[in-house]
Amino acid sequence: MTMRASLLFLLPFLLLASAAAVAGPPQSALEPAGVQAGEIYQLWRLTLLICTLVFSAVLAGFLYAIWRAPRSKVQLAPDVTSFEQSEPRLRRPVVAAVAASVLLLAVLIVADFLTDRRLARLPLTDAVRIEVSGHMWWWGARYLDDEPSRIFSTANEVHVPVGKPVILKLSSADVIHSFWAPSLHGKKDLIPGRTSLLQFRVDKLGVYRGQCAEFCGFEHALMAFTVVADTPAQYEAWAARQRAPAPAPVTELQKQGLQVFMRSTCAMCHTVAGTEAGARLGPDLTHLASRSTLASGTLPNTPQHLASWILDPQRFKKGANMPATPLSAQELDALMAYLETLR
Ligand code: CUA
Repeated sequence: MTMRASLLFLLPFLLLASAAAVAGPPQSALEPAGVQAGEIYQLWRLTLLICTLVFSAVLAGFLYAIWRAPRSKVQLAPDVTSFEQSEPRLRRPVVAAVAASVLLLAVLIVADFLTDRRLARLPLTDAVRIEVSGHMWWWGARYLDDEPSRIFSTANEVHVPVGKPVILKLSSADVIHSFWAPSLHGKKDLIPGRTSLLQFRVDKLGVYRGQCAEFCGFEHALMAFTVVADTPAQYEAWAARQRAPAPAPVTELQKQGLQVFMRSTCAMCHTVAGTEAGARLGPDLTHLASRSTLASGTLPNTPQHLASWILDPQRFKKGANMPATPLSAQELDALMAYLETLR
């Protein structure tokens, strides 16, 4: 192989390696952080092992065939083709290859079936129940509770306690999306008009990235989410803060900011619990400042990014339904001061 050919051959692997090296929370099925992802990882390893063996055997057979190929030395009878001549010799290896293929496929099917059964065997007592809804292009999350006053909503970032089962009730507001946090579980589709369930448990503290895994339109690629696995105590503290309505603005600037929020387009799409803004077209902003990213994982949640996002969302996410908000510098200042209080 020439130097250039080998570089071309290596290119996809280099690209993959560089993609994997992009900073951020892990999003890898090869780094399982819970029982379900662990089961899927074991199945993946078995599949990889079998495929590697089959690939190596086929490659070895291919090289052997090239090496042993009868050159022009063999004289064929004029009415006998080379295949007919070699067929009796080939019969045994072909039968063996077919038998091995059937056997290996059967092993994979059984392993698949057993993995599926084990995935469904998560004890669900004392589970955290979250309704997750897919939207073009963001995620809504509603934490359920038997006591209605303890129900709360957030968006694009969910927290879960480690060691406790989590049940997600998945639904879609528009088109088909797919919820996939590879370190936690496999993919599950969100289908309009239906509800599906996804159950998992996270065993390792950490922050995990997830991504919509079903093409759902222009900004499908910018439909990420974050799962934060806290200790049970941290989780309870977080949930208690999320249940609380937004704090009332204190300073004059923050009060002006709330007014800007209410009279501009913001209040027509977003909810801030504790204010008159109660629209559900866009993500719930009650505790916006406590989240790590903006626009479903598109931007880090810093004041600069938030201000740029509000002024011109299409600059960062072309298909976003949120319109640009023309604000004077003074209005933007006030609005930012208010949004900062939404912790
Ligand atoms: Cu939602 Cu892709």
